[in-house]
Amino acid sequence: MTRHNIDGYVIDVLYSEAEINARISALAKEIAASNPHRLLVVPVLKGSFIFAADLIRAMHHAGLSPEVDFMILASYREGTRSSGKVDVLRDIESDVKDRDVLLVDDILESGRTLAFAKDLIMARGAKSATSCVLLFKPGHLAANIAGDHVGFECPDKFVVGYGMDMAHQFRELPFVGHVVEGPKG
Ligand code: IMP
Ligand code: MG
Repeated sequence: MTRHNIDGYVIDVLYSEAEINARISALAKEIAASNPHRLLVVPVLKGSFIFAADLIRAMHHAGLSPEVDFMILASYREGTRSSGKVDVLRDIESDVKDRDVLLVDDILESGRTLAFAKDLIMARGAKSATSCVLLFKPGHLAANIAGDHVGFECPDKFVVGYGMDMAHQFRELPFVGHVVEGPKG
């Protein structure tokens, strides 16, 4: 287990850069094999921005040429768990009618965020709305949604890095890690 000390926080690596890269190539191939029609990739910000950036480049290598548009959703949380209320802070500008839409998110946990986005896209006449998530944390699903393409099944720990934050920190880490310990004092 590789351990980092960043600003006094002890962070253990769960998924390394190399593991993430290998998994993303496989996900891109999986998505290409589904033969999407006029594919629109919609990263659900903010946590998915690094994953989405790597995934769309892997999609190019897998022979796809998707369009990309962004959605910012705020899902309200009580402590570290989702409360179920979701607001659209920034909507996509693209018309989704008759298109295959791929929602990209960092973590699927309760599923409320993705279920909300999927319903919204389908209500606008998309041909399909599927999801690609880097991590799936089993045991907390509260919405009727499955991750169609899942990077890793993740232990039930609070994770950071590779776009994901803890109180706005650690998005820049090139790996996914778990904060084991905070600063002393
Ligand atoms: P849900 O599936 O609607 O419960 O929400 C999942 C969202 O909660 C993710 O997209 C993350 O933004 C956030 N989230 C859940 N678990 C973690 C974590 O361990 N670290 C950082 N963000 C998390
Ligand atoms: Mg998120």
